[in-house]
Amino acid sequence: MTDKPALKLKRLQDMAVKGRRALVRVDYNVPMKGSRIEDNSRIRETLKTLEHLIAEGAKVVLVAHLGRPKGKVEAKYSLRPVAAELAKLLKRPVAFADDCVGPSAEKAAAALKPGEVLLLENLRFHAEEEANDPAFAKALARNGELFIQDAFGALHRAHASTAGVTRHLPGAIGFLVQRELEFLDRVIGNPQRPFLAVIGGAKVSDKLAVLDKLLERVDSLLIGGAMAYTFLAAQGINIGKSLLEKDQIDAAKAVIEKAYNKKVECLLPADHLVVREIREDGAAVATQAMAIPPDMIGVDIGPHTIEFFVERIAKAQTIFWNGPMGIFEMPSFSHGSRAVAKAMAEATSRGATTIVGGGDSLSVLAKAGLAGKMSHCSTGGGASLELLEGKTLPGLAALAS
Ligand code: 3PG
Repeated sequence: MTDKPALKLKRLQDMAVKGRRALVRVDYNVPMKGSRIEDNSRIRETLKTLEHLIAEGAKVVLVAHLGRPKGKVEAKYSLRPVAAELAKLLKRPVAFADDCVGPSAEKAAAALKPGEVLLLENLRFHAEEEANDPAFAKALARNGELFIQDAFGALHRAHASTAGVTRHLPGAIGFLVQRELEFLDRVIGNPQRPFLAVIGGAKVSDKLAVLDKLLERVDSLLIGGAMAYTFLAAQGINIGKSLLEKDQIDAAKAVIEKAYNKKVECLLPADHLVVREIREDGAAVATQAMAIPPDMIGVDIGPHTIEFFVERIAKAQTIFWNGPMGIFEMPSFSHGSRAVAKAMAEATSRGATTIVGGGDSLSVLAKAGLAGKMSHCSTGGGASLELLEGKTLPGLAALAS
């Protein structure tokens, strides 16, 4: 978040691409069920870049990863279904090559005419990709004459296709990466106030660095999800059998203390939905207080907490949300997450800037049909958090001049 000097990055619109082979790194790591794509958002979000390249007469060569095949060819991680989905979305043919380097890839790339699109097979079928192997990066670069980085979700990885390849081709950032940086770096770094962050999810340890950084920026911090129980325990409040990260109690105390010193309002759930056993049909009751009875497990924020979280969201001008408020996968324990999603949608419509990051929060939005109602939904979980932590993303550092 803008504490570090801004990187000088060339943008796609500043690059002459006509008639040239553009090697475009995209993040098509989409959720799959068999060969069916469950959510095509990451593909849709790249269309602006691709349509620009097509309209400008570039020859488009796409590279991406899917899953973590660890250097082995595995049919279930093939990007072939993604090529079909992309063709549907672009309303034009998308060629596919069975390898991302070597003769089959190079031949297919060389055969492209201006405005044509080719997707190469999963980069991670080669162990050299994640190892950022120089020879592999060079082989990959042979498929293009220039490099466009539009894989926001993979920018926190220093791999051959995000870092190494930039040594061989002139590079620029695509429209998706530009949009992500605009929201996550500029808007959050220089927000309209009040600026509120809603942070949830299961693990304090996953979120500590970002909480620490956010405390430098926000006016209010709302903490929900299972990680709230560790914060409550750190305050000496009984949390029954709820999830606790014992080794994070001191860290949670430090966050609360920092919030106090910085005069940041830090709100923890004042009541909870609790169950005796985590089961889809398990009867949940609301506690009347912050404390959870000894034999019960917290599974969602309670009705009073929902009320005051919604009230706070309604008053904010910039809202950042990462992490669900409860076990949202089970509809009976998804009230808190859905209420936050709805309040954010309302905030967007009254002119506030709303930004959502992280796969689980995006899933809540998708299930509630509210994905289109946010100012910005980040396509990168890990990448967006690392950016907010103030880290320099290797994929951007490699491209900077
Ligand atoms: C993601 O899904 O967050 C990105 O595609 C990165 O995937 P990875 O965590 O397997 O590197």
